[in-house]
Parts: sequence; structure tokens; C-alpha cells
Amino acid sequence: MAALFCIVVFLLAPFISHTADPDPLLDFCIADLSSSPSFSSFPCKPASNVTSEDFFFDGLMEEGNTSTIFGSKVTPGNVLTFPALNMLGLSMNRVDLAPNGMNPPHSHPRSSESGVVITGKVLVGFVTTGNVYYSKVLVPGQMFAIPRGLVHFQKNVGDKKAAIITSFNSQNPGTVIISTTLFGTQPSIPDHVLSQTFQVDSSVVHSIESKFGS
Ligand SMILES: *[C@@H]1O[C@H](CO)[C@@H](O)[C@H](O)[C@H]1NC(C)=O
Ligand SMILES: *[C@@H]1O[C@H](CO)[C@@H](O)[C@H](O)[C@H]1NC(C)=O
Repeated sequence: MAALFCIVVFLLAPFISHTADPDPLLDFCIADLSSSPSFSSFPCKPASNVTSEDFFFDGLMEEGNTSTIFGSKVTPGNVLTFPALNMLGLSMNRVDLAPNGMNPPHSHPRSSESGVVITGKVLVGFVTTGNVYYSKVLVPGQMFAIPRGLVHFQKNVGDKKAAIITSFNSQNPGTVIISTTLFGTQPSIPDHVLSQTFQVDSSVVHSIESKFGS
């Protein structure tokens, strides 16, 4: 029995990894976004077409427009906006938060997250799989860490605008926003499933759905 266990562990060992995305096999592979991706990566743009410009991205310079229902805007710097990140297992976002604005509870299925507050005062919180809530109010220069896949949020609790830069160990972390995942799907999840889930009448479900377009 012990021998069998050892053999299983030995066979699995090469697959135990702490990286979110596979390791790159080339120096670089600027994504050719006009081709469809295979697995998580895009095919490379021909090396003869690559220039310095491919390795720099100014998309996070501009403040995002926070006139949204949550008073927040996430500007992504992932492989889809910055093709040099293809195969590098990295990406960054800029999160702008109006006063009282919130990046609502969500999770990233393919990545852990770390972030730093650039301006403002931000409440950052996440919940473990054991339903323990961890949180702290951060000021500029302070960082936070969110383990992969856990539900988390950021909320501006100051009286001025706030901005955060977040980083991910995935070129395309993916985002599951709890509210839209349940109440903004096409087609919608059956009412009876949602009312049973939250132990409320279907009128409450309809009211929430009307805010998320499902
Ligand atoms: C490479 O550059 C050539 C010439 O500028 C252009 O016609 C072609 O579309 C480019 N290919 C890709 C994949 O960017
Ligand atoms: C921000 O978005 C709102 C709502 O979509 C729009 O009305 C407004 O013009 C935008 N502001 C800027 C500066 O783009």
C-alpha cells in the first residue's frame, strides 16, 4: 500500500506546479490576435514583424470612466490588450474607483492576484473556501494578496477618487463577477433555482435580474 502511494506520488510529481500558466518555450511570442488561440496561448506574430512598440503598453495611463452602476472601471492589461504578454503568465489591470465606488465581489479562476493602491483609501476583502472573511483598509503604497479563485472586492472608502494597480500570474486571469454570473446570464438561470438558492420569492429574483440585464 505504501509502495503504491509512493509510485502515485512519483508519477504525479512532474505535474505539481505553482505557476498559473505554462512556462514559455520561446523568448517571446507577440500574440497574433487575428488568429484563434489554442489552449491559453495565441500563435506568434512573425518575428520579422516585431518592433519595440510590441513590448510597451500605455493602456493603463488613462483614468477609467467610473460612471458605471458600481462606480468603478477595470482597465485590463492582459494578452488581449497587450499581446506581448502571450505565454508570459503575467498581466496587470488598472482599477479606478469613484468615491464610494466598488469593484464588486468576483473571482479569477486562473490566477492569484496582488495589487497596490496608487491613490485613495480602499477596503480590500476576500473570503476563503471556509467562509472566513479577511479585510483591511489600504492607503497608497500598501499591497494586498488574493489567493487564486477566491471571491474578493475592492471598495473606495475615502472621499476622493482611488486607483489600484493589480497583477496576476496569468496572461488572461478570467473574471467571474458574482452578481452578473448569477443574475445577468443569457439565457437566464431558472427563477426557481435562484429563489431556492437565496431563499427568497421570485419577485426578489426578478428585481435583481432587472438590474443586470437577464
Ligand atoms: C507582417 O507585416 C506585413 C507587412 O507590414 C503585413 O502585411 C502582415 O499583415 C504582417 N503580419 C502580421 C501577422 O502581423
Ligand atoms: C463616461 O461614461 C458615461 C456613461 O457611459 C458617459 O455618459 C460619459 O460621457 C463618459 N465620460 C467620458 C469622459 O468619457
